[in-house]
Amino acid sequence: MRIGLTYDLKEAVSLEAGSPQDALEEYDSSETVELIAAAIETAGHSVFRLGGGAEFLDNILRERVDLVFNIAEGRGNYVGREAQVPSVLEMLNIPYSGSGPQCLAICLDKPLSKKLALAAGIPTPQWCLIDNPAELSEIFWNGLTFPAIIKPADEGSSKGIGVSSLVASPAEAVETAGRLLECYRQPMMVEEFIPGDEVTVGIIGNAPPMILGMMRILPKKQADFFVYSLEVKRDYLNLVSYECPARLDEQVLARIAEVSLKAFRTLGCRDFARLDFRVSPQGTPYFLEVNPLPGLGTHSDLVIMALKLGWRYQELIAAVLQAALARQATRLPVVEGS
Ligand SMILES: Nc1ncnc2c1ncn2[C@@H]1O[C@H](COP(=O)(O)OP(=O)(O)OP(=O)(O)O)[C@@H](O)[C@H]1O
Ligand SMILES: [Mg+2]
Repeated sequence: MRIGLTYDLKEAVSLEAGSPQDALEEYDSSETVELIAAAIETAGHSVFRLGGGAEFLDNILRERVDLVFNIAEGRGNYVGREAQVPSVLEMLNIPYSGSGPQCLAICLDKPLSKKLALAAGIPTPQWCLIDNPAELSEIFWNGLTFPAIIKPADEGSSKGIGVSSLVASPAEAVETAGRLLECYRQPMMVEEFIPGDEVTVGIIGNAPPMILGMMRILPKKQADFFVYSLEVKRDYLNLVSYECPARLDEQVLARIAEVSLKAFRTLGCRDFARLDFRVSPQGTPYFLEVNPLPGLGTHSDLVIMALKLGWRYQELIAAVLQAALARQATRLPVVEGS
């Protein structure tokens, strides 16, 4: 088949003046693109590199492809940015891998995805949302649990999450949230900090979706309040170790698997996703977020997980592609003009 590949390379994205230092963090390297292209070719297909942004718009109108393998993160800091490429592909009626625009936009909006998770009975840490600096003086801080973590509402790749994100008091929360509001120009969450194990879960497939694996992320240096922050993700080889399969109590693992699959379905994910949890010392998994467009670089958690479970990189990419192709095979044809 003719498979298009959509992606946003760090070097292809131009930043506005005053953007935060981690503004390019979610974008991909050409090394990742080449690895994925090679994997798709090994699976017997031809690959057409379509890129992202305006370049993608030009290319998708020129190349004829049967399906797009999408890893494009989208442009700007819009909450709907991950939905941009899938929306265009739907307009052109071109099938693609991964979740649709609605799911991608909902999941990048952490407060909204947490509300949907809660409605489905999935525990998630308490939080409040601060839309603008004026609200900092209106929050009922005593109603919140401390320590808390301040994080941008619509980000991934731990953008905006650093050592100073953990706050011990309302005064620290006001100071940190104020600074981050100005820097990231989007709403900030003040979220109850859940101490305990950091676990990330991979899901693959649709009929039914299956747990790929559950991986525990452990700081190499004992920390009371470990945060898998931007600094840690950038220096992961030195700062954390990955345990997969996670050596946790069987009942806790069963509970994590159950709520992961429930969240995947509730939020409308397709083909693959990665979900992040903190497991309280009492064994309750707290849903932090779902990544319906998880990184596929060699340093990404889903890839680390798959390799630890004995998959080859090529097999992971082929499984995502296969999930998308199988889903397309059951899709109803679109009637022209309807
Ligand atoms: N409520 C919380 N309690 C404890 N730790 C938290 C909490 N929220 C976030 N963290 C820590 O911060 C990390 C990043 O948070 P989160 O997963 O929400 O951000 P992200 O930028 O979307 O991550 P990703 O890189 O997976 O896209 C978590 O993996 C966890 O270590
Ligand atoms: Mg995360």
